[in-house]
This record gives sequence, C-alpha cells and structure tokens, in this order.
Amino acid sequence: MSDSIAFVPTMGALHAGHLELIEHARKLSDEVVVSIFVNPLQFENPDDLAKYPRDIEGDTEKALSAGATRVWAPTFDEIYPSEIVKISAGELGQRFEGRERVAHFDGVLTVVNRLFQNVKPNFAIFGEKDFQQLFIIKNWVKENQIPVEIISHPTVRDSDGLALSSRNQRLSAADRKSALIIHQALGALTKEEMLQILATEPGFKLDYAEIIDEESFEIANLESLHKRGIIAGWVNGLRLIDNSPMGFVR
Ligand code: PAF
Repeated sequence: MSDSIAFVPTMGALHAGHLELIEHARKLSDEVVVSIFVNPLQFENPDDLAKYPRDIEGDTEKALSAGATRVWAPTFDEIYPSEIVKISAGELGQRFEGRERVAHFDGVLTVVNRLFQNVKPNFAIFGEKDFQQLFIIKNWVKENQIPVEIISHPTVRDSDGLALSSRNQRLSAADRKSALIIHQALGALTKEEMLQILATEPGFKLDYAEIIDEESFEIANLESLHKRGIIAGWVNGLRLIDNSPMGFVR
C-alpha cells in the first residue's frame, strides 16, 4: 500500500464531493496526489472557462486536510510543454454531452493522459457525477492498456438532492430551486415520466434526458441489465448535468 499512489485529478473549486474522493483515495494508498488544473482544452465556451471558480490556496488547504499528501497545481506549459498531442474520445465522445460540447471529451482525455504521465498513479479516482467522462476514461484506459486502476465514487449531493458541482456556486436561490427538478426527474421510472417532470419547471431548459445502458452507454433496451438516467440542461445560462441508476435515487 505504501508504495502506491492514489490520484484525484480536479479543476479546483473543491467541494465536499471532491473531499470524499480524496478520503476514498487515502483508503487506497498512503500517498495521495491531488492535481488542480483548469484545462482550457475541455471548455468549448470561453465564458464558462473565464468564470470557472479559482482558489488555489483555499483548495490546497482543503485537499491537505482531507488527506492529500501532495497538491500539484501545474501551469499550462507544464501540462502542454510542446505541440499538444490530442487524444480522441471517438464516437463515444460525440454522444449526449459530446453533442452539445464538441471536443470536450477529447480535451478531457488529452489532459488526463498528461496528468497520468506526470503523476504515474496506481489508482485514479473519478466521481460518478460525470458519468460519461468516467465511462470514456475507463474505456480509454482499457483499450490502451494504461496501467492505472480507475475507481469510481458515487455522486455526493446536498441535503435537498442537488448534485454537488463547482458550478453550483453560480446558482442564485431561485436558480437552485429550478435546478432541483433534475434530481426529481431522476426518480422517474421511464423516459416519458422523466420528460414530463422536467417540463413542469419553466426555469429549466432541457438539453437531453435519456435512459442508457451502463455497460455500453447506448440507449437502454429490454436486455439492459443496468440502466441509468442521464439528464443535462440549462438553468439561467448555467449548464447542469446529473445521473442516477434508475429507480434508486436517494
Ligand atoms: O472532472 C474533472 O474535474 C475534469 O474533467 C478532470 C478529470 C480533472 C480533467 O480536467
């Protein structure tokens, strides 16, 4: 255990969800590296990148008190020292989130590859909140035989059910009320019911709501053993995503 490295890659703005990932990492290894790097390659919207909350000092303190043994906040040049070798997420990266956020997952894989090359972790821990990201990273690691074990951790929610996200800081009290419709809709048993619930909230603009097969990330069918509801949409100009195994919303 002491020779291994557990890694929690982040873009900072750490919240209780990140801290759970760090605590989980600490159970896997005595050495826990947390990276903080806001990766421009995965933002398709310059305004979202500019508004992304940044607080390296506060984040470092939080990460260390949650059990990190090293906090690494690289510069752009450290991550991308020469010509950027982009990694493609392929067709998987163009579904759902990728339809709206073109090249987002290519940017995620490109930075995760560079982070792994630097940190050389044995384990890397990712939250289920970004379920498509988790799926794509697991697939890429498997296909390319990258020697890192990918560990997933359940989404952490506020007491009202809203999935924790660094972007939630930008929600007003009224926006937050509208955002809660996502969690309610994830309690539905069918896609139709999910859509009906979402349509009741005028402050929520739907991007997609679907039930997918967790093994393939295709739309679920009668043979799907593990189904998951995935929802994305906008509240007052802010894009929110969430997901949950069907029928098991807590
Ligand atoms: O999930 C995130 O915070 C980011 O996508 C990640 C994995 C740190 C890559 O920038």
